[in-house]
Amino acid sequence: MKTKTTRALQGSAILATAGLLLSACGSSGGTDSGEQAGSTSFQGRGPITYVAGKDATGVVPKVIARWNALHPKEKVSFVQLPTDADSQRQQMIQNAETKSDAYTVLSLDVVWTSEFAAHQWIDRLPEQQFPLAKMLKPVVETARYRGGLYAAPASSDGGMLYYRTDLLKKAGITRPPVTWAEMTDDCAKVRKLPEAKDMSCYAGQLQKYEGLTVNFAEAVNSAGGTVTDAGGKPDVDTPEARAGLDFLAGAVKDGTIPREAVTYQEEEGRQAFQAGKLVFQRNWPYMYALAEKSKLAGKFAVAPLPGLNGPGSSSLGGHNLALSSFAKNKATALDFMKFFSSETSASTFLKDASLAPPYANLYDDPSLVKQYPYLPVLKQSILRAVPRPRVVSYGDVTSAIQQEAYAALTGSKSSAQALKDLQSDLQKSTAQ
Ligand code: GLC
Repeated sequence: MKTKTTRALQGSAILATAGLLLSACGSSGGTDSGEQAGSTSFQGRGPITYVAGKDATGVVPKVIARWNALHPKEKVSFVQLPTDADSQRQQMIQNAETKSDAYTVLSLDVVWTSEFAAHQWIDRLPEQQFPLAKMLKPVVETARYRGGLYAAPASSDGGMLYYRTDLLKKAGITRPPVTWAEMTDDCAKVRKLPEAKDMSCYAGQLQKYEGLTVNFAEAVNSAGGTVTDAGGKPDVDTPEARAGLDFLAGAVKDGTIPREAVTYQEEEGRQAFQAGKLVFQRNWPYMYALAEKSKLAGKFAVAPLPGLNGPGSSSLGGHNLALSSFAKNKATALDFMKFFSSETSASTFLKDASLAPPYANLYDDPSLVKQYPYLPVLKQSILRAVPRPRVVSYGDVTSAIQQEAYAALTGSKSSAQALKDLQSDLQKSTAQ
């Protein structure tokens, strides 16, 4: 299946590039509705949809309502897809394959840009209409494919270590752990407290879905390994990668990670942390605002992810706004994308829902740093974050990672065997 898809894609990518070059020569700017980017003309005004994963925070309907109040004839309806990234991707692909106009603006996970752009499921955007220079560079890079801009950065994401400040303090620990070994030592100390004796130490996102790809890549990177090397070639059958996967698999085996955490996505982990079941949890920034509204308010903080011998590194996450090639009312869509990805909207997403903004200056804004003291740390973590493989065949890559990482986590394969098999799968799925 993969080989056919890849060949067809190579062809269509060449055609797409040729089309882009031609239209770039002929383009002379224009109005919102007439501007050309690639071969798209953004025409037509009227109702559109915004399609994204389920909103756990309530902020998305609020920002859409702002738009709708100002544009009564160009209303946006919010189509909520399932919470997990893989189901979102599947539904968006189904919509594209049937050339349906049901979805207009897509909230595209940063790892899908190449796949959606190469298939021509999304339109190239007029980049001078978005304030990209004010955004963090690695975030903008996630929205590009072969030099063109195919999405507008809306929110970024970096993994962080949430920890129980109250319990660490009580156990005499004065700073959050920097290494995995320190984290497990801290847990042993915390568990001696009577109120913590039934708690588990740590959880991330280990169910077999995109979150596992993220957590696996972070473990590998945080032990000095790589999934793909600087040139994009798979390089995962290494002692460093093995140390990373061994940490996760070993932690599941010895109970540092509770057994049930192999079924956790982001939300299950958040709920477990908020219910007082975990001392540490790896999650994205969105959890901060929600946990602040829970009974744990004031009892937790966040720190950079720990690693094998020192601080770990995060995978680069986030969501960008893309325009479905099959949509109607593209002039409205383009305006809505500018509005929804504007600094004003990003600031609302941050204030209300602690979503990581693409805009660099918001991380240093004193009033925002007062509300979210971790912002400067998060900025560094995003700037240093490691992107997941940027490939057209991302679906094949992530499912191979999920398959092998899960096998190692649940003990059906050794880490060494899982990485050996993964290396060979990745070589096949990234071969051009
Ligand atoms: C978050 C990230 C996204 C990632 C997903 C995995 O939504 O922003 O990039 O793929 O989590 O669960």
